[in-house]
Amino acid sequence: MEIPDWSSMKLPSRPELFDFEGVSMVHYFTDNWEKVKNFQARPDDILIATYPKAGTTWVSYILDLLYFVMMLQMPFLESCFKVIASGTELADNLTTSPRLIKTHLPVQLVPKSFWEQNSRIVYVARNGKDNAVSYFHFDRMNMGEPEPGDWNTFLQKFIEGKKVFGPWYDHVSGWWEKKQTYSNLLYMFYEDLVEDTGREVERLCSFLGLSTSVEEREKITKGVQFDAMKQNKMTNYSTIPVMDFKISPFMRKGKVGDWKNHFTVAQNEQFDEVYKQKMKNTTVKFRTEI
Ligand code: A3P
Repeated sequence: MEIPDWSSMKLPSRPELFDFEGVSMVHYFTDNWEKVKNFQARPDDILIATYPKAGTTWVSYILDLLYFVMMLQMPFLESCFKVIASGTELADNLTTSPRLIKTHLPVQLVPKSFWEQNSRIVYVARNGKDNAVSYFHFDRMNMGEPEPGDWNTFLQKFIEGKKVFGPWYDHVSGWWEKKQTYSNLLYMFYEDLVEDTGREVERLCSFLGLSTSVEEREKITKGVQFDAMKQNKMTNYSTIPVMDFKISPFMRKGKVGDWKNHFTVAQNEQFDEVYKQKMKNTTVKFRTEI
């Protein structure tokens, strides 16, 4: 599929955040809600679920290469940006099997047909501090997101859960709890992908029941390294006009621990304190050191 010509599209004004079924959202992801809610999943669908900026593009591209389909054939389920068909329309029209579909929805908003059909789901989580930093730079450069303000303003909103797709804490822990009862869910960590991409590609293959050769896996592992994806037009988003690359690239740093270059000592203490409170009932464990 061709990359669409976006050149005539005007930059939108930044959208307002509002409460949607208890989750902060912008209209781009709710305008099509009836269709999202009633979306018909198929048993062979593979849903890639993440909180924004946790490594969606990375794992999507790995799956993309594993299944030899193109990036644009992976609909973003809840999106309805108007300039291209909505995520549900794109997905409904896909004839590939399996369909690869991505979502940032918190687990409680995922269309129920995915559970009914027992579709396979790959969830990717990233440690909260790096996730916040990546989301901050993304909001600065992406006019489709509400205005982030300065770093401290953004961080306070992140901590309060006033970000598109709601609180990071509920997202990662909600999906983690789901995994305890829904066996067709692979829960991956960004930090593990950074530590050993090849090992994680192998885990994905075994979850998906794909028999790939060592050579195929090595080729994929090489193709999905940060530098390769940064040069690749399909994955660096350089053709998307709502993003201002003069402010920040989409493929920004791709590192674990960049939070140390952003958090002050006081912000770090505040984050740790809130983390302890909000995550006290979950067993999900993140690593900030590799
Ligand atoms: P940074 O902003 O920290 O660089 P998403 O796809 O969910 O929006 O996540 C984007 C984040 O994943 C960005 O993080 C991006 O650089 C990182 N990323 C994407 N591909 C990567 C890769 N191959 N290796 C490491 N990080 C990658």
